[in-house]
Amino acid sequence: MNKKIKLALICGARPNFMKIAPLMSAIDKHNRNENNKRKIEPLLIHTGQHYDVQMSDAFFQQLHIPDPDVNLEVGSGSHAVQTAEIMIRFEKICLQEKPDWVIVVGDVNSTMACTLVASKLGIKVAHIEAGLRSFDRSMPEEINRLVTDALADLLLTPSPDADENLLREGVSKEKIKRVGNIMIDTLIMNLEKARSLAPHRQYGMKEGEYVFVTLHRPANVDGKEALTAIMQNFAALSQKLPVVFPLHPRTEKNLIQYGLMPEPNHHPNLKLCKPVGYFESIGLADKARFVLTDSGGLQEETTFLKTPCLTLRPNTERPITITVGTNKLTSIETLQNDIDMILEGKQKQGMVPELWDGLTSGRILNEILKSIG
Ligand code: UD1
Repeated sequence: MNKKIKLALICGARPNFMKIAPLMSAIDKHNRNENNKRKIEPLLIHTGQHYDVQMSDAFFQQLHIPDPDVNLEVGSGSHAVQTAEIMIRFEKICLQEKPDWVIVVGDVNSTMACTLVASKLGIKVAHIEAGLRSFDRSMPEEINRLVTDALADLLLTPSPDADENLLREGVSKEKIKRVGNIMIDTLIMNLEKARSLAPHRQYGMKEGEYVFVTLHRPANVDGKEALTAIMQNFAALSQKLPVVFPLHPRTEKNLIQYGLMPEPNHHPNLKLCKPVGYFESIGLADKARFVLTDSGGLQEETTFLKTPCLTLRPNTERPITITVGTNKLTSIETLQNDIDMILEGKQKQGMVPELWDGLTSGRILNEILKSIG
């Protein structure tokens, strides 16, 4: 009998879960197909980088991701502490379990830490969402992307810009496979359910008549000055159009610390709430007049949904959401003007990029199986 292929799949932080879900389904489908003689044994590893119910468990439940086989329970810490803890704990698992390949997604600390461990043990690594670059090394994620892509054996990219970045960095062409955007598989799979829940109504919002805001990047929320200016802008915006703003734990902590949490009585149309689940997030993005964010995932989801998106960052590692999609970069200085343009109906019209078609997870599994041989 053919020996099973053991794939260790890594997830750790919120944006990883919607990328792992369709891959787990593709593996399940592969194993159920009688024509596939060589079965796959998935080993799902949660590093524990995110641990709150709203940041982790809620996504496992909504997306029907099986419980992780292993939880490394690393929790929060400085970059060095968190990365090191993941490495120490993941190395033990690799030595015990001896996976044939390690599959990592995205650009969080868990992605880089597990890639380093696997590479040093001589275990092959496939990186899903390879090749994205913001060219801004002040972003922790950019360092994670560079290290992960330098070490990975199979680079699975979502868009042509990613291929170009990797080729420019000297990655051999044979390692690069453009497969499309795996997050869009999850979006297509769950959009109907999200629409049926109409989450905007829970916040007292009307379709097309509110702004969906998310912010969590250290550059926006860690400094008092930047966060103060942002909150002043949001208060002004909420007088034109109601705002729904679920708070990432990092953002909530800083708003409290700097005394910037808005008084509901003073700003009744600025609705701050706990982090929302996956259905709620895509449902809110779908029906919003526009989205204002610094999230990578929402830039992509709004492009697919054709909801106008303003990204409060000086750069993006996802330029296709600007060149093809509905995204536009903004800053505190240009924000009010960019908002007014959308409110006047001068919003960007976008298209859905090639291969963002709901079939990416199947293409990824094919490429991994081809590489295994
Ligand atoms: C991480 C990722 C970022 C991703 C984001 C999505 C890195 C370097 N950053 O940033 O790329 O966009 O996740 O959310 O990997 N906390 C909680 N509960 C949790 C998790 C975190 O309260 O479940 C708090 C802790 O105080 C922690 C802080 O949030 O110190 C930041 O968490 P951390 O995982 O370090 O970074 P994120 O900002 O979440």
